[in-house]
Amino acid sequence: MEYDIADLDLAAVGARRMAWAGRRMPVLGTIRERFRQEQPLAGRRVAACLHVTAETANLMLALRDGGADVVLCASNPLSTQDDVAAALVEEGIPVFAVRGEDNERYYQHIHAVLDTKPDITMDDGADLVTVLHTDRTDLEPIGSTEETTTGVIRLRAMAGDGTLRLPVVAVNDSATKHLFDNRYGTGQSCMDGILRASNVLLAGSTVVVVGYGDCGRGVADRADGMGAKVVVVEVDAVRALEAAMDGYQVLTADDAASVGDVFVTVTGNKHVLRDRHFDRMKDGAILANAGHFDVEIDLPVLVARAAERRPVRENLEEFVLEDGRRLLVAAEGRLVNLSAAEGHPADVMDMSFSDQALAAEWLVKGAGDLKPGVYTLPGELDQEVARIKLAHLGGGLEVLTEEQVAYLATWKEGT
Ligand code: NAI
Repeated sequence: MEYDIADLDLAAVGARRMAWAGRRMPVLGTIRERFRQEQPLAGRRVAACLHVTAETANLMLALRDGGADVVLCASNPLSTQDDVAAALVEEGIPVFAVRGEDNERYYQHIHAVLDTKPDITMDDGADLVTVLHTDRTDLEPIGSTEETTTGVIRLRAMAGDGTLRLPVVAVNDSATKHLFDNRYGTGQSCMDGILRASNVLLAGSTVVVVGYGDCGRGVADRADGMGAKVVVVEVDAVRALEAAMDGYQVLTADDAASVGDVFVTVTGNKHVLRDRHFDRMKDGAILANAGHFDVEIDLPVLVARAAERRPVRENLEEFVLEDGRRLLVAAEGRLVNLSAAEGHPADVMDMSFSDQALAAEWLVKGAGDLKPGVYTLPGELDQEVARIKLAHLGGGLEVLTEEQVAYLATWKEGT
């Protein structure tokens, strides 16, 4: 078996972390058990490009138990958990991922998983799909899945200009994904990453959240809960208004730049913090990114402007500007929750990765009938995932009476 990981000797540690995550993923566990019996992916090859974490490892095991041949590479060079990669290799699943790998090796790994000629690809940021449309147009998978907002935006752009040549399930569109993973997962793990990198006290400090989408709401809410004064920067008037009515101060990036102690970008856009904002920031301001790519903070400009650049802690670098102000950047501007912490808790990835597993099954069932395009999983699958999760949280679910069903379906009664 071919693979490329940091150190196979780390497997025992990785296996323990995978088992712990698995215990906190009851929905995926239920699907895995059904997959084991029904073998919906029998004989299919799945190539996944996801963050190599303990939660992803549990998804890989579920797909394998469903009959698939699975291979995994990283969707970000800094998020790989080397011990988990080793444990998966011990399980017989080839992994191509080394934490801190350079760009060249990162793409070698992407090509290595595509060399298996997959029937299904799984992306977190559309890297595999992009290569399927550039260097590997010879490959013909039946379909693909996409985990994150940024990837879905790219896929819609490809569908829009007629480039997309395969059906792709936008897993991020599932309610049981973006309402929980993006919001509660990013909210909590982003704080975790910032604190592990800096250990600053958030109470009483000003946290600027740039982007008030699903993720930004979660980040703002958790920063607020830890006693920070939260400032939101938005370009969408409705979302900006929502942030104002949620109780946060809403400012332009220029105005927010001069008051923030900690900045978190989570827009999916580029250079949302740039030169003009660096000019206004306070000495000691901390900059972190939770958006998918490392382009939200214009790091090249900061590097060019810095008279000095030095590490001050693990995952925290200081840039000393010409005027002596020091700006600190967490985790090289990459996803702070995955680079400086462990990413989302398993409890929330339980739902995202259940949606991924169901998306793979849905693609196999629809093989041949699905035209190229971006698809959302049927709502009843969301209901199924939510129902199992709620039951595990000890929640009770009310059921409509027949009278209520009939009432909701008519326009004649009730005046
Ligand atoms: P979203 O589309 O719901 O929200 C993004 C928000 O940013 C929008 O309200 C948009 O108007 C705003 N925005 C865009 N440009 C802006 C600018 N220049 N200044 C201020 N606001 C701006 O997207 P979502 O789901 O919140 O995802 C955001 C990013 O986070 C994406 O890149 C996504 O892939 C990534 N993500 C990261 C996760 C993590 O683990 N760190 C988990 C899930 C998503």
